[in-house]
Amino acid sequence: MSISVVILAAGQGTRMKSAMPKVLHTISGKPMLFHAIDAAKEISDDITVVLHHQAERIREEVESTYENIIFHRQDAENFPGTGGAMKGVHTRHSRTLILNGDMPLITKASLEALTSGDADINMSVIELEDPSGYGRVIISEGNVIEIVEQKDCNEAQLCTQTVNAGIYAVDTALLERYIPQLDNDNAQAEYYLTDIVKMAVDDGKTIHPVYVSEEEFKGVNSKLDLAHAEEIMQRRIKKALMLAGVTMRLPETIYIDCRATFEGECELENGVRIEGAAHLLNAHIKAHSVIEDSHIEHSDVGPMGRVRPGSRLVNTHIGNFVEVKKSVLNGVKAGHLAYIGDAQIGEGSNIGAGVITCNYDGKNKFKTIIGKNVFVGSDTQLVAPVCIEDDVMIAAGTTVNKNVEKGVLAISRTPMRTVKNFFYKFFGDK
Ligand code: UD1
Ligand code: MG
Repeated sequence: MSISVVILAAGQGTRMKSAMPKVLHTISGKPMLFHAIDAAKEISDDITVVLHHQAERIREEVESTYENIIFHRQDAENFPGTGGAMKGVHTRHSRTLILNGDMPLITKASLEALTSGDADINMSVIELEDPSGYGRVIISEGNVIEIVEQKDCNEAQLCTQTVNAGIYAVDTALLERYIPQLDNDNAQAEYYLTDIVKMAVDDGKTIHPVYVSEEEFKGVNSKLDLAHAEEIMQRRIKKALMLAGVTMRLPETIYIDCRATFEGECELENGVRIEGAAHLLNAHIKAHSVIEDSHIEHSDVGPMGRVRPGSRLVNTHIGNFVEVKKSVLNGVKAGHLAYIGDAQIGEGSNIGAGVITCNYDGKNKFKTIIGKNVFVGSDTQLVAPVCIEDDVMIAAGTTVNKNVEKGVLAISRTPMRTVKNFFYKFFGDK
């Protein structure tokens, strides 16, 4: 790994119209900047992230997930622009790849294409029908001779459809030499990183254009771009999973977090949402169910089931309108309309319709422990903390508010009574 990477992430991202820094907006469950860092980690052990706007917030977020990332604070007041961002950045290896923090779709293969060959500078270019907004790249005999920013273009240059995608692999010694020489003598009064190309041309260096795909290199600037990038990422995630053997019914309607993992034979029906680092092993998730950060093994959920974070389901059947939260279920059936929160339930137990763990008293959460072969009748309330031993039957409608011993029937029920002819007295003869 003899290449260094610098990720530019100091820009404000005004067009996102958000209080959250642009690079922290997520795509398929992961901040955009993390996608860029992950791509960088595939090829480098020397990664610098350049920050300015909300630098501390972004740094904390990055440090909560990654180690060994170097942070550089841009002096954006005095040195605005992409060239200003590179001022004071020093990298370890002989080549430096400069990435943008808002390009979450970049793949390892593209980065490798950009870092191969022996040109002094490789720069990413795209052919665009509509080049507006981008710096135009002037190429002659296979070499880049100039990049002109849109705001500095003349009429002829504006018609150029070859544009700068903004990613460069540069000989580090040249960067060290050129960055201090940059000035801000241009229409935006900014320090342009692109000016290093002009300096390199004047020095007789070789600058190769590397043609890249618009899909991967298009930056995310607005919520509209964010949604498009998400669609592309989702298609990639699902394609890879289907090729690895996951069955998906109407995949366009399914959402899968990039951190989710699948093993064995899994099936996802339409409208399923898998969030966080969920792990599914031989699981069948039926239509319109949501699985969040949970382990689902040899089990089925839904349709319209919800498994919230911290749950572990093994050999379990969860039916429609059942919500499970932070619970461990092993060999359990909960077929309809139940809330199982902060619970642990053993093999062979059946949870009837309308059963609810009352796990929260308004201040604290409490646990419900249910043993093996417990039949919990419909509409039972389990007032936690409570422990039910093995081989217990709980009658429908019972409020369980104390521990229940092995082998018993638990029943709390107001005796039912009947009043003769009440119907006719009340409604009259019909
Ligand atoms: C830049 C290129 C342009 C190219 C375009 C591709 C320059 C001068 N122009 O345009 O040729 O077509 O990218 O998207 O480089 N950033 C900082 N500090 C700053 C300004 C920007 O870190 O002071 C970061 C941003 O967070 C972003 C990246 O640099 O990640 C690119 O910035 P952006 O403003 O989008 O680039 P442009 O100047 O529009
Ligand atoms: Mg800009």
